[in-house]
Amino acid sequence: MRTVDLIRRKRDGEELSIEEIAFIVDSYTRGTIPDYQMASFLMAVYFAGMSDKEAEALTLRMLESGETIDLSSVSGIKVDKHSTGGVGDKTSLIAAPLAAAAGAMVPMISGRALGHTGGTLDKLESIPGFRTNLTVDEFRENLRMYSLAFMGQSEQVAPADAKMYALRDVTATIESIALVASSIMSKKLAEGIDSLVLDVKVGSGAFIKRQVDARRLAQMMVGIGRRADKRVQALITDMNQPLGYAIGNALEVMEVSQTLQNAGPTDLTRLSLELAARMIYLGRITMTLDDARELAQRKLLDGSGYKKFKEVITAQGGNAQVLDRFDLLPNATGAREIVCPRPGYISGIDAELIGRAATMIGAGRDTKDDHVDPAVGIILEVKTGQKVDADAVLCRVYYTKDDRLEEAAELVEDAFRISSAPPEDRELILEVVG
Ligand code: URA
Repeated sequence: MRTVDLIRRKRDGEELSIEEIAFIVDSYTRGTIPDYQMASFLMAVYFAGMSDKEAEALTLRMLESGETIDLSSVSGIKVDKHSTGGVGDKTSLIAAPLAAAAGAMVPMISGRALGHTGGTLDKLESIPGFRTNLTVDEFRENLRMYSLAFMGQSEQVAPADAKMYALRDVTATIESIALVASSIMSKKLAEGIDSLVLDVKVGSGAFIKRQVDARRLAQMMVGIGRRADKRVQALITDMNQPLGYAIGNALEVMEVSQTLQNAGPTDLTRLSLELAARMIYLGRITMTLDDARELAQRKLLDGSGYKKFKEVITAQGGNAQVLDRFDLLPNATGAREIVCPRPGYISGIDAELIGRAATMIGAGRDTKDDHVDPAVGIILEVKTGQKVDADAVLCRVYYTKDDRLEEAAELVEDAFRISSAPPEDRELILEVVG
């Protein structure tokens, strides 16, 4: 089998066999296919797509590239949640502690910032001392002790995804339904989970821009999960403006802290509660979804989700005091205000532009070897639908280096759309699949 022939056939829209897909995944993971050929293959998939059969074969081979964590020694139904990626999307850090506080077992393997979107691992690592590189034994033990453990992909878990994910990030091959589905599902099936809640983002700040494509992605992932005997549900949710007000790693941890203390933004609180409720329900802690919603709400109001997050931060070596003392988090050295050019209504905040601006000043990565600056980011002062006066502050850009600040500020200015009439309300949760 020659890699170049497989690239050509995929480029020309042919369906590859299970063996051919296995060859590509195995060879790339072993290092016998160079990055330039893999990048070319990924681009061919981006343009030609994959059938359900190919996407499932890709997922299963990526899963088999590493070990499947055996969590059978940990009692209870294990349930996780994963997002396809958004801007300001910190729901994992809220929904997971709420679900764990309600009695669900939550083993969570997360990703890093990708393209213009943030990553749960980078957010967690902005907490001084927090270790995401747990061994599988430590992960299992922490799950047993605290009902919640966070970990990143390692050489042991879905290594094919770790390599492909980093390459896709810098070769403009993220926005592919089959590649997103296989990336997410290979990691999730490697976790030894029983149930999974997916948040499929759609809109300007998501990788998938159209609802019809988001639906296909959701159906593909739910199908792959179900055929692997998992209970899976997907929410399709709006990502046309950033979620909450904070974008950037440490800034988002601050907003997580506020939200877990029931003082967070309405959209973020609402979606986190719904995701937590579905985790609780799929984790069979309650008989009905309505009971699960009530329980999630109670865990928010009585502070037990907040307490759970602190417990887990400490268990993973982090300084949990940061949730009360934001000065202990990495702090930016400068702030630049972006002001409103004219009075009116905010009719849109382009989440992709905001995400790209945040990446530009260091909140994400331009190349796969870049380091993320945990302190930097953007805090919005307004949300879509709000009435604003001329010269009102729209947002603040927090930076530590100013070399790309001007460029980033221009992107941020372009992100805000001002209209003379109020925009129509948009639904946050658009559809449920599964
Ligand atoms: N999240 C992932 O884990 N993989 C993707 O490809 C996109 C979002």
